Amino acid sequence: MIRIFDTTLRDGEQSPGASLNMSQKEEIARQLERLNVDVIEAGFPISSPDDFEAVRSIAGIIKNCTVAGLARCTEKDIVRAAEAVKDAVKPRIHVFCATSAIHRQYKLKRAEEEILKLSVEGVKLAKSFCDDVEFSPEDASRTELPFLTEVVQAAIEAGATTVNIPDTVGYSTPVHFTNIIRHLREHVKNIDRAVISVHCHNDLGLAVANSLAAVEAGARQIECTINGLGERAGNASLEEVVMAIKTRVDVYRCRTRINTKRIYPTSRLVAALTGIFVQRNKAIVGDNAFAHEAGIHQHGVLAHRATYEIMDPVDVGIPASKLVLGKHSGRHALRDRLQQLGHDLDDPRLDRVFEQFKVLGDRKKEIFDEDLEAMVSQVFEEAQTARAWELASLQTTAGTGVVPTATVRLRNVQSGDVVTDAATGDGPIDAAFTCMMRIAGVEATLREYDLRAVTGGRDAQGEVHLELVANGHLYRGRGRSTDIIEASALAFLNALNRAIAAADKPPRISPLNGASCGISSPSPAPDAAECAQAGLRVPTCD
Ligand code: KIV
Ligand code: ZN
Repeated sequence: MIRIFDTTLRDGEQSPGASLNMSQKEEIARQLERLNVDVIEAGFPISSPDDFEAVRSIAGIIKNCTVAGLARCTEKDIVRAAEAVKDAVKPRIHVFCATSAIHRQYKLKRAEEEILKLSVEGVKLAKSFCDDVEFSPEDASRTELPFLTEVVQAAIEAGATTVNIPDTVGYSTPVHFTNIIRHLREHVKNIDRAVISVHCHNDLGLAVANSLAAVEAGARQIECTINGLGERAGNASLEEVVMAIKTRVDVYRCRTRINTKRIYPTSRLVAALTGIFVQRNKAIVGDNAFAHEAGIHQHGVLAHRATYEIMDPVDVGIPASKLVLGKHSGRHALRDRLQQLGHDLDDPRLDRVFEQFKVLGDRKKEIFDEDLEAMVSQVFEEAQTARAWELASLQTTAGTGVVPTATVRLRNVQSGDVVTDAATGDGPIDAAFTCMMRIAGVEATLREYDLRAVTGGRDAQGEVHLELVANGHLYRGRGRSTDIIEASALAFLNALNRAIAAADKPPRISPLNGASCGISSPSPAPDAAECAQAGLRVPTCD
């Protein structure tokens, strides 16, 4: 049996642009439980009070999966992680310490013996709180094999029940990774006392291939994320590793406990809540994954599905038909469709989506899955973003030879006061942004602006994702409407409200800052010259 350790809520949430609020994280955790993953890594509790709360809350909600919290090998990290997972039915503390020469020398500035000591002490401390302890030698794939062997053995001796071998910078290849796992199995004397896990990043597009190679070499846990989210190019994608193991059982000769029919709904849920969309041609869950364009292929599939399809779309939970709802559809039909899309909403949230559904039904004849997903993500946003201001009305003028103007009225949510401002700009959106900044009293610079049609058709809703910088911090906003100027204004206001709310909160510790024993910033693979200059050995798998 291969254990599936899902790190969407930790490494996945480190994807640029993927930050999730508390209720979004809880919803994803519930869905991961329905998917039947073995372990949910719920976050990095020391990184911020919000992260801590999210891990603690998920630990209280989830009953059937192990809930893990990440910690560096420092006392404060481990104590915080232990506190966050302590109410879980099955808690796990995951401690990590970088071991490669390049991390030792440049990030941690510590010698091998010190790294060994930190790792052992970290595991022992974690063990004093929790029986289930996972240890990761960060950047393992670039660590000298004799040192890696020594650290892994010492970590098991200290009490680690899972040893996770990360390819932190996505540098490995399948043969290289196979050799590392084989080497550890042959040389770590107590290796049978722990489960070997792997955690692969996708910088070279090899994360899934490396994870599967490790399974062939004897690894029994794969760390992965929904839709392959994660630092930089992401982690191994859960849907790909799971379906590879299932489809090629003849090769891997093992199975996972995943309820594969939940894969597609989970992918859609994560895409909707993170706002990171899945590319059309993504394996397993992309829109084109089961689409056949060529006439020959269509003919073949009609004659016998297996001529061109190695998996049945039903097995990954792709709905048999694209159901279209309209304004006359009832609450029941809405709930049914949302469930098929992976959203098991509680009554208050369903009511809120239903309200929005009726409003949209008046503007638009047909309501598609993508519209529903956009509504659900908005409902989760609304629940958490403390809103200082809301849009009362917006009027713009634009056209050839006309100075673009906007008049914006914002309502102060606390006092109920409505404030009006008017401005000109490069275009009507720019003018509306100026009005909102002046009313809210926040100086912000727009960094990214992205507009996409949620569905096809001329009455499609536009969804705007944008990033602005205010008070030296980055804030993201999302808005949608059949009117793209309104969608832009809503997205900008969403980001401004986040900036206002964040002004009262302590900053989040970035797990990317290599403090005493932190997760590395993306660092390139060392080349021979760089290593020679630093007096290091080029990593090999000899
Ligand atoms: O990529 C990595 O090395 C990690 C560790 C914390 C497991 O995310
Ligand atoms: Zn990682």
